[in-house]
Amino acid sequence: MLSRQIASKLRGYETPFYLYDMALLRQTLESVVYESKKYGYKVHYAIKANYDDHLLAVIREYGLGIDCASGNELRKAVEAGFDPKGIVYAGVGKRDKELKYAIEQNILAINCESIQELELVDALSAEAGKVTDIALRINPDIDPKTNHCIDTGQADSKFGISYEEVLEHAAEIRSLKNVNIIGLHLHIGSQIRELHVFENMCNKVNVIVENLEKLGCKFRFVDVGGGLGVNYDVPENEPIPNFASLFSIVHNHLRIGDREVHFEFGRSIVAECGELITTVLFNKTTATGRKLVIVDASMTELVRPAMYGSYHNIENITAKDDEVREKYTVVGTACESTDVFDENVTLRRTHRGDLLTIKSAGAYGMSMASRYNLHDLPGAVYSDEIK
Ligand code: LLP
Repeated sequence: MLSRQIASKLRGYETPFYLYDMALLRQTLESVVYESKKYGYKVHYAIKANYDDHLLAVIREYGLGIDCASGNELRKAVEAGFDPKGIVYAGVGKRDKELKYAIEQNILAINCESIQELELVDALSAEAGKVTDIALRINPDIDPKTNHCIDTGQADSKFGISYEEVLEHAAEIRSLKNVNIIGLHLHIGSQIRELHVFENMCNKVNVIVENLEKLGCKFRFVDVGGGLGVNYDVPENEPIPNFASLFSIVHNHLRIGDREVHFEFGRSIVAECGELITTVLFNKTTATGRKLVIVDASMTELVRPAMYGSYHNIENITAKDDEVREKYTVVGTACESTDVFDENVTLRRTHRGDLLTIKSAGAYGMSMASRYNLHDLPGAVYSDEIK
């Protein structure tokens, strides 16, 4: 783990901050590129996971496309130099001005999530004198067996158009003159660790593609979304997610001829390379005997534990190796009782001024940070810039 190796050098930076292991990011990118090339798969980076400029510059070097979820994310990707023809834009509620910008940018595809949105893209494209490439985002009704807060492809979900509705409106969809349907898109959820779920997904996609093509929809690509989980429990043993297994499952189960297959990975690209470094402010014990460590980070820097009950491994990186270990509840500074990073975590005994790391926080950490309590946004430190 990077932070423990360089703990003394981290003393000079104001906490809390995100520390990025740029070598690990590169290794992860090398792995996803190497494994995807075996099958000719195309990989987009889901920029919502982390839109840090330094990370984006490295991700761009490896030739990934972008998956974005708002006009501002799209703008960020364009400004970071990603080729618009490698950018897809999904989102259940796109504003007119966001759609107009996407149409202007000639991106690979706007992934439409309702019939009304399709009609709007058609009308806005006509106004702009264009024919816009789009993908249909279908809700495949699959249980991804993950935290219910982050599943997105079950029948009752707000995401995508139901398959039945697409079948019902197929003729009308095809009659739209200013949209060109080039892709089929789905994304079933995030932090998926039971990979057999992706088999079910492929089986559903096979049926959907076959039936929609019979109705005259021609897809150049199928974008099966992201969702590959990372190992938050023992990250050091498995820092690079299992891209090889996922691709092999998709290769063995997806029967869609020579159409391109696209993925949109967020967490699996950046989660492991980021750590949140925070300073111990105080120790105290509650009347019930619970030992609290109060750190200078909070849910405003990393909301995942408070929002989803997510687990992140925590370590005291400045304590001596032989320091006694104790059980603590690690809490943050925000005025919320759910602002707890972990309960009952065993740490080397903590003292005021110690640095703790909250690991595997590179995805959905900084990008979900807020200014609640008027906290400053956390800084970022990159391993390749540390002297
Ligand atoms: N594609 C679409 C359409 C998505 O909605 C998402 C994530 C991704 C790709 C990337 O999924 P990933 O590879 O990262 O699993 N804030 C939550 C995660 C929300 C995921 C939202 N959509 C968390 O911290 O766990």
